[in-house]
Amino acid sequence: MIRAAVIGWPVSHSRSPLIHGHWLTTLDIDGDYRRVAVEPERADAFFARFAESGLAGGNVTIPYKEIAARAAHHREPVVERIGAANTLWIENGVLCADNTDGIGFLANLDERAPGWDRASGEALVLGAGGAAAAVVDALVERGFMVRIVNRTLSRAEALAGRYPGRASADVLSATNRYAATAGFLVNTTSLGMKGEGTIDLDMTVVPAGSVVTDIVYVPLVTPFLAAAAARGLPIVDGLGMLLHQAVPGFTRWFGHRPTVTPELRELIEADL
Ligand code: ATR
Repeated sequence: MIRAAVIGWPVSHSRSPLIHGHWLTTLDIDGDYRRVAVEPERADAFFARFAESGLAGGNVTIPYKEIAARAAHHREPVVERIGAANTLWIENGVLCADNTDGIGFLANLDERAPGWDRASGEALVLGAGGAAAAVVDALVERGFMVRIVNRTLSRAEALAGRYPGRASADVLSATNRYAATAGFLVNTTSLGMKGEGTIDLDMTVVPAGSVVTDIVYVPLVTPFLAAAAARGLPIVDGLGMLLHQAVPGFTRWFGHRPTVTPELRELIEADL
């Protein structure tokens, strides 16, 4: 039996076991995927000894994406660029790390809004945290000029600074200035999640046809997306990013490439 897990603290909220469990069942694979909660004081030792844990690999969630990246002996180029890993596996006895958040982000858009990147002009990214790092990296790879706006300017500057000439930084209050020329918009902040505040963005200035997405998926249609939809802009919710980022890990651990089907989406939606 091949074993994998999602590792975090806390980890009880993770939907990854539902996703991988669904694939294990539908593909009839003798595997196991579970949650592993690792206390912060044990984290360094846990990742240092991952190769002896009995796990073939796993997903890493908050707050261990950076620790996992550092602990790995082999890092995919994207992990080197953003300093965070969400997917681990053992190869030749050593720990290897990838970050599939960017792949999941792009695959979700490619699936739900084909042609979303046609213009590949300016992309507006709200937020500069861990999630934004993967999103910005993916957008630069797709050829966008990325405008990053964030409450804390220094964080936006640090992120934009990794992509000279391809990304710029400004304060969150400057959002409307960039919205007028944005061919694509994404919210990576926790604003708009249940119980959080809202985003001050005038959707009327956004060019017609620009795709708007959110990486938050609880609620599925965030206030950010609802405002965009009310203006007739095409929207893509963030749930598909979660589903698509899981594909490369499953493929590595269990040896079969799974598919993101409408049934899987319905299963996870019912659990939100
Ligand atoms: P994640 O890994 O999910 O991206 P994070 O690294 O804590 O989490 O980043 C959260 C993002 O939401 C940041 O861009 C944060 O802005 P700051 O860098 O200024 O903290 C943004 N954010 C969270 N709460 C916010 C609020 N009340 N107003 C504006 N931005 C907020």
